[in-house]
Amino acid sequence: MSTQTAGTIAVFGATGQQGGAVVDALLDRQARVRALVRDPRSDRARALAARGVELAAIRTDDPASLAAALATVEALSFMTPEANSLEQVEAEIRIGTALVDAAAEAGVPHVVFNSVSGADRESGVPHHDSKHSIEKHLRSSGLRVSMVRATAFMENFTSVMAPSLEHGEIVLRLPLPEDAALKMISVHDIGRVTAALLLDTAEAPGVVVELVGDELTGPQIAAAFGARAGLPARYEALALSVLPNDLDKTMFREFAKAAENPSDLATVRQIEPATLDLAEWIRATGWTAPTNAAGS
Ligand SMILES: NC(=O)c1ccc[n+]([C@@H]2O[C@H](COP(=O)([O-])OP(=O)(O)OC[C@H]3O[C@@H](n4cnc5c(N)ncnc54)[C@H](OP(=O)(O)O)[C@@H]3O)[C@@H](O)[C@H]2O)c1
Repeated sequence: MSTQTAGTIAVFGATGQQGGAVVDALLDRQARVRALVRDPRSDRARALAARGVELAAIRTDDPASLAAALATVEALSFMTPEANSLEQVEAEIRIGTALVDAAAEAGVPHVVFNSVSGADRESGVPHHDSKHSIEKHLRSSGLRVSMVRATAFMENFTSVMAPSLEHGEIVLRLPLPEDAALKMISVHDIGRVTAALLLDTAEAPGVVVELVGDELTGPQIAAAFGARAGLPARYEALALSVLPNDLDKTMFREFAKAAENPSDLATVRQIEPATLDLAEWIRATGWTAPTNAAGS
């Protein structure tokens, strides 16, 4: 894989899922990486350093620390932290805005923002509208920018959205109507596409790429896991009330309207041809049916 950008790439969120995948993909391509971390002594930060990543200690409320970290970099990759409350949404906007302002001040040549699918409009989902406003701030910054808009992480199927094994059957339950298709992408592919843009080996058409590797209804997702396990599978649509907070309720209400915003699965594969669909992700991760479920 070629690398056109030879300078250092700054990555914010490098100790997390998306930023970690961006670092992996950049290191695969022999790029120089500087991770902007709040605690260089954390285990995850030390693990990055052990792989040759330079660490820059930053605080997002300390512009001088950001200015020092962004000096002389060729590009910046950033995401914004998970928000589960309106206060955290405010913090997310503050962090994103601080990073954009610091990048503009430092004259960073290219900034790639790991945003979210649907951030082109105000949807009423607070932690998506936050990314819409960060995108707007980025566009008005005068910087060269690219937005990679992630859909649901396939990795959620190993945690909050994991199927269970019940009486010899794979069962998937989500608060999503049976006929609504869920857009999804693997975190690995988020990293690969983001790295390609950062290194200028690909361009986002119109500066935006929706990161979608597959788009499947609940019954289709259950069937994909069932096929891998060699077991029958079924899907149960749950009520939104099972969700722990109002933010996620508004988000799943929006997911149910997916048919209004069909995805183009080809664009992301023009950048990263090996982008995984769900069946490929299930195989690639070595997923096996859970063994400790009641009644199994
Ligand atoms: N889950 C999904 O399906 C999905 C889909 C689309 C979009 N998203 C969006 O993805 C984002 C979360 O991404 P992720 O899963 O990659 O996050 P993550 O794994 O939770 O990682 C968060 C990263 O941000 C850093 N961080 C958090 N607060 C910070 C602060 N105040 N100053 C400096 N660094 C800070 C963390 O550093 P430390 O190591 O210091 O904690 C960590 O590196 C959210 O905005 C979410 O809305 C999620």
